[in-house]
Amino acid sequence: MEVIIRPDAAAAGCLVARIMAKEIRANPHSVLGLATGRTMEIVYQYLVDLHQRERLDFSLCRSFNLDEYVGVAPDDFHSYRYYMNDRLFKKVNIDLRNTYLPNGLALDLDAECRLYEDQIRKFGGIDLQLLGIGRDGHIGFNEPLSALQSRTRMKALTPETITQNSSFFGGPDKVPRRAITMGVGTILECRRCILFATGAEKAGILAKAVEGPITAMISATALQLHRRCTVVVDEAAAQQLAHSEYYRWIFHNEPEWSEFQE
Ligand code: GLP
Repeated sequence: MEVIIRPDAAAAGCLVARIMAKEIRANPHSVLGLATGRTMEIVYQYLVDLHQRERLDFSLCRSFNLDEYVGVAPDDFHSYRYYMNDRLFKKVNIDLRNTYLPNGLALDLDAECRLYEDQIRKFGGIDLQLLGIGRDGHIGFNEPLSALQSRTRMKALTPETITQNSSFFGGPDKVPRRAITMGVGTILECRRCILFATGAEKAGILAKAVEGPITAMISATALQLHRRCTVVVDEAAAQQLAHSEYYRWIFHNEPEWSEFQE
């Protein structure tokens, strides 16, 4: 794992977009793993900007999103499909037919989960997975006690997650109780991952995810097992990291990061 701390959310989001752009340019056929949530909006804004100003080309890319609510139609304003179309897909030149999210309305949800795994495998696995972190430490919707080897499946949301996401739905009663999510094991198979977190409300859980013991109670801790995981955070989210001086030193001194200095 490596941890990069930037002064604010805009600088951190810009860095994430630039890392992604570098990967896409190196491999135009990249299979991207994408995430939703408020935190990611700034990354998608920068990617759209890179597409418009520097012709970042998504035409050969494929994408697989981490998760989708069960019972919410793709064209529903609350769905993650709607979020992705709105924030990214309709604003860049990705072929919508090459963008995948689980179908939360599938009649056979278990079959839908198996199909999702098959599709990821069919296209050679995920090259770069973008991840946020929930306040309970989930990645995707891998709520506490998600097996570290879990695959795409249905998961019941915790009361904390329901509260966290309730503002999108106009109240906790309206938030779906279940979601389809890639498993922790599915996520760990990606070739590279970026965990992106901003804001003081993520500082406590982020420190546990990065520096705490690996536990199924906090699925983000599983990323410590990944061979190539970059954690990008702003100062506010970095507040509780014990080794932040070391992380800062790496960013400013290791050659790999020199092209990303501002
Ligand atoms: C949802 C998504 C997660 C995301 C989390 C964080 O729960 N399923 O993938 O990481 O939200 O959301 P936010 O960025 O709004 O804090």
